Amino acid sequence: MKIGLLGGTGDFGEGLALRLAKDYEIIVGSRYKEKAEKKAEEYIKKLESIGIEAKIYGENNKRATELSDVVIITIPYEYTINTIKEFPEAFKDKVLVSPVVPFKKVNGDFIYIKPKEGSAAEQISSIVDAKVVAALHNVSAEALVDIAKEVEGDVIVLSNDDDAKYLVMDIIKSIKNLRPLDGGNLSNAHIVEAITPLLMNIGKRNKIKHPTIKILGEQDGKI
Ligand SMILES: NC(=O)c1ccc[n+]([C@@H]2O[C@H](COP(=O)([O-])OP(=O)(O)OC[C@H]3O[C@@H](n4cnc5c(N)ncnc54)[C@H](OP(=O)(O)O)[C@@H]3O)[C@@H](O)[C@H]2O)c1
Repeated sequence: MKIGLLGGTGDFGEGLALRLAKDYEIIVGSRYKEKAEKKAEEYIKKLESIGIEAKIYGENNKRATELSDVVIITIPYEYTINTIKEFPEAFKDKVLVSPVVPFKKVNGDFIYIKPKEGSAAEQISSIVDAKVVAALHNVSAEALVDIAKEVEGDVIVLSNDDDAKYLVMDIIKSIKNLRPLDGGNLSNAHIVEAITPLLMNIGKRNKIKHPTIKILGEQDGKI
């Protein structure tokens, strides 16, 4: 299975490429194909240094979308909407994962900016004809990039399409110690998106590195 990372040249894209490439082919997307190819080489070398042979390629964002089975948007919210509007037809019927969090900084604190559609995931869903899955908002890029260490936490996954949601949950399970949890449909995505700026404030004010979430309680059976 091929996973495309739009804007995969940035921090979160790098983290996901490094964590997912042991099980999936990765296509790093960028506005600039050459930049994506350079980053893909860099990621391959990092993985080689820990004995993982990876298939990672670089492409422009549109081509990365066309070539991938699952596409993850790793572009800041302020540029995401214009980017997907540039080639909306490429997303038709794709599984499109949104870890996108709309936020801004006000007086030193991070605050969530709720889009009028309800959430970034619902806004994206209103623009492209894709199976949108909201996930991975509360995992830190820095923690993902530090491949010498395991990354830990629960990942709430939401979608109006159950098959797409379960597929993304399986992909997340491939990252050791990340536990995907079914959070229902996209109408709750704003809650999960809003946790990220809260975690950023908690991290800053309490000096906690890479704060994330974990749901306590006994899990009865396999998901
Ligand atoms: N960082 C985290 O810890 C974290 C955690 C959870 C979720 N997320 C979400 O993941 C997404 C990416 O975050 P990030 O920290 O990785 O962002 P980032 O490093 O600031 O940027 C990622 C990529 O966005 C592309 N980009 C920049 N300006 C653009 C523009 N004007 N138009 C189109 N693309 C542009 C760039 O790719 P090219 O120059 O190659 O085109 C850049 O490498 C965000 O939506 C964020 O909310 C991040």
